[in-house]
Amino acid sequence: MAKRPEWLDNAVFYEIYPQSFKDTDGDGIGNIKGITEKLDYIRELGCTAVWLNPCFDSPFGDAGYDVADYYKVAPRYGTNDDLKELFDCAHKLGMHVILDLVPGHTSWDHPWFKESMKAQRNEYTDRYVWTDSIWEEPAGYGTLRGISDRDGSCIVNFFTHQPALNYGFYKPEKTWQQSMDAPGPMATREEIKNIMRFWLSMGCDGFRVDMAGSLVKNDPEGKGTISLWQDIRKFLDEEFPEAAMVSEWGEPDKSLAGGFHMDFLLHFGPSHYNDLFRCEKPFFEGNGDASEFVRKYIESYEKSERRGLICIPSGNHDMDRLARHISEEKRKLAFAFLLSMPGAPYIYYGDEIGMRYVEGLNSVEGGYGRTGSRSPMQWDDSINAGFSSAPSDKLYIPIDPSGDRPTAKAQMGDAGSLRSEVKKLIETRQAHPALQSLGEIEFVCDGAPGKPLAYIRALSEEKILVVINPTGKEYTVDCADGDVIYSFGSYELKAGALTVNAGSAVFMEL
Ligand code: BGC
Repeated sequence: MAKRPEWLDNAVFYEIYPQSFKDTDGDGIGNIKGITEKLDYIRELGCTAVWLNPCFDSPFGDAGYDVADYYKVAPRYGTNDDLKELFDCAHKLGMHVILDLVPGHTSWDHPWFKESMKAQRNEYTDRYVWTDSIWEEPAGYGTLRGISDRDGSCIVNFFTHQPALNYGFYKPEKTWQQSMDAPGPMATREEIKNIMRFWLSMGCDGFRVDMAGSLVKNDPEGKGTISLWQDIRKFLDEEFPEAAMVSEWGEPDKSLAGGFHMDFLLHFGPSHYNDLFRCEKPFFEGNGDASEFVRKYIESYEKSERRGLICIPSGNHDMDRLARHISEEKRKLAFAFLLSMPGAPYIYYGDEIGMRYVEGLNSVEGGYGRTGSRSPMQWDDSINAGFSSAPSDKLYIPIDPSGDRPTAKAQMGDAGSLRSEVKKLIETRQAHPALQSLGEIEFVCDGAPGKPLAYIRALSEEKILVVINPTGKEYTVDCADGDVIYSFGSYELKAGALTVNAGSAVFMEL
């Protein structure tokens, strides 16, 4: 296993979408100083780390996942010094900050791409993946064609304006497909190390890596991409052994082999994550089915040698807000699950207060249907919910217009609020190592229709039974006597049996 920073083991992350968190200069868009100002809020909730979505210079065609300068904070967010100040302030509070590294593609506005489009050979000719003729459109890839003097089509990774960086092909099959160790792909790899070196030297604690499994092309089993990340981990172990690496990959057997400390459970692909939170009958709303999720979870848990380092997010900037599908009391049960699973939990800003998906918005900066989950944080009942002093029509994305929108201020003053429950759950997790990232998990009940989710978390001598019952009927589990360390709703404990009532959750130390 890669060397790991100790702080990661009990980390609870808070994901911040910088444009929507807090605006301190009244231009209608969030900034880094705003995040620094609000670190106390995040720490008070109990979170120990922050994942910051891309904050680098960009034309913002995909909200910053289209980088134009990896070494420069986007002026609308502030300066590199502001980011350094954020790192320093976080460290003073005992917190850590990971940045979003987008190694797979850049913006088509990136100076490397402009050079790469030129017909004359230059340093950046091989920085991207080009065919050697405009008439060749490689099957299975999106391409950019007819925009350059250079004769060739350029492979793109996501949107059309995001040309793919060249890390080579695991098995090159055509003349234009370079091997992983060809000079062009090796130069790209070294440049990514330089970028990491730059921010880590400034005080950043690691990276969430965007589309980490997609770098090497024609690599169906991921073998080339795994070896590439192993090489990057080797560099980190030598120069920055404390750097934390979390991948957006969704296949922990591969990402952990590549030297990542943790992987994300994805909301697309085979994970069945959406069965729990976002589908017609989500499990946590009470009448759904979690059993396929559990089956897939155990499968990848076993494949990664029972290292349960799969981070489960409450949501993120790519999916619907939790509140769009699950009612408030049931969301408390969803958080009981999120905060008692292996891997580090990730709370998407505003999910802790039940921020809603804002319906009917036009797409902003490549958000499309994701835009409604990216609206400004609701701090209080002042102008623009305390997000910004700009005129409301100048806000980057409108605030949730509903009269009863939740705010951090109101929820902090209410012991029965969602935020108070989330805070209590984080405290419980932090007090019990078995509930944290490295504790093992054994399922007792798989959440099939009408059944709850129940599992035992264990680390060293500590063993905790977790029962989360969003269904409409009670559930009894035979168990040794123990101490209830957390409960929501109601339960009954009689010799040898714990009954957890409908809509309730219990954590019991055995
Ligand atoms: C990010 C998206 C982004 C895409 C392309 C994803 O994994 O989370 O927001 O649009 O990568 O970079």
